[in-house]
Amino acid sequence: MNSQQGPRHWSEVPRAPQAGTVIGSRDDLPDGQATLLALDTGGGVAQPFRLLLLRNGEHVSAFVNRCPHFGVPLASNQAQLIFKSQINITCNVHYARFRWSDGVCEAGECLGEGLLPIPLLIATDGQLTICQP
Ligand code: FES
Repeated sequence: MNSQQGPRHWSEVPRAPQAGTVIGSRDDLPDGQATLLALDTGGGVAQPFRLLLLRNGEHVSAFVNRCPHFGVPLASNQAQLIFKSQINITCNVHYARFRWSDGVCEAGECLGEGLLPIPLLIATDGQLTICQP
């Protein structure tokens, strides 16, 4: 099955936050865990901008919580998020599997496509800020 056409860059996703948006602190993210974050960027709590934050020690990677297969969240809440720490993260709709390191699909319906990465600035105090597109 072909993947859905969709945004090719995180800034094209509806309700994408502005560069410079502070999204939290690395210290609030358990090391080795994938964490869901819902940001209210004008759509209210019913239509947040959803991110996946993957922490590896001092580093944090961010991706849009949007599977390139059907354009839906990989999981709608933290309890449903399927991941192997520092190895991969899996969509809980049709179980496409994405590499932890870069979000590229390594198995499943959207092989070779990937999650949309969001560049983060990590301050010395751990504050996480979205960078310029
Ligand atoms: S929606 Fe089909 S694998 Fe994610």
